[in-house]
Amino acid sequence: MARIKMVAGNWKMNKTLQEGVALAAQLKEDVKNPKCAVVIGTPFIHLATVAEMLKGSPIKVAAENCADKEKGAFTGEVSAEMVKSTGAEYCILGHSERRAYYHEDYEILKNKVELALANGLKVIFCIGEVKEEREAGKQNEVVKAQLEGSVFHLSAEAWKNIVLAYEPVWAIGTGLTATPAQAQDMHAYLRGLVAKQYGAQAAEDTTILYGGSCNEKNAAELFACPDIDGGLIGGAALVAEKFEAIIAAR
Ligand code: PGA
Repeated sequence: MARIKMVAGNWKMNKTLQEGVALAAQLKEDVKNPKCAVVIGTPFIHLATVAEMLKGSPIKVAAENCADKEKGAFTGEVSAEMVKSTGAEYCILGHSERRAYYHEDYEILKNKVELALANGLKVIFCIGEVKEEREAGKQNEVVKAQLEGSVFHLSAEAWKNIVLAYEPVWAIGTGLTATPAQAQDMHAYLRGLVAKQYGAQAAEDTTILYGGSCNEKNAAELFACPDIDGGLIGGAALVAEKFEAIIAAR
């Protein structure tokens, strides 16, 4: 089984419902036969409408987060079960913005991952080091700890529903993309960790995305690396032409 190539968008906290619907409509119109899996991560508010619109389209929908609790008195939270009920198929978890600004630690993320999987969602699990850690040469130990803290306890069967996204924090939204060599080195390292945990075949089958200022200009060069299976795209996913050019580069 060849591993799945993927281009996923992460809209973050951008677009009103109407703007998001317009972007999804444009993508639906333009992306009919992509050569890779295509996912768009939208704010919760958009999920139900966009998932309904994209029924029958090859484009799948992701939430950008879910609660670490199953249900009940957690005002303002959105559960994995609710996400699933919209028709979304994926949930992005562990994004560095969630870790940094909303204090999501390994344990919270472990709970979120388990709830997402238990509710039949696939998880795009983000990992990556900050600038100081890269400068200190600690990037490998950082991502290893992130995996061990939140996802490496999963069964081999559950692991099949995990997509990894390596996103060096210093590259997110900064225009400072990792070089293809830096990204490839890290992706090969990550695949090695997966091989140790789940075996060579599981590692071979695991989709590992690169994210961090990936755009329509640098995507092809990044995607040409043997261990980079696609991208998780922030800023460039907000403009149909740019996102479509990245899909075409995959
Ligand atoms: P960026 O964001 O493409 O705007 O750098 C990527 C991400 O945070 O997923």
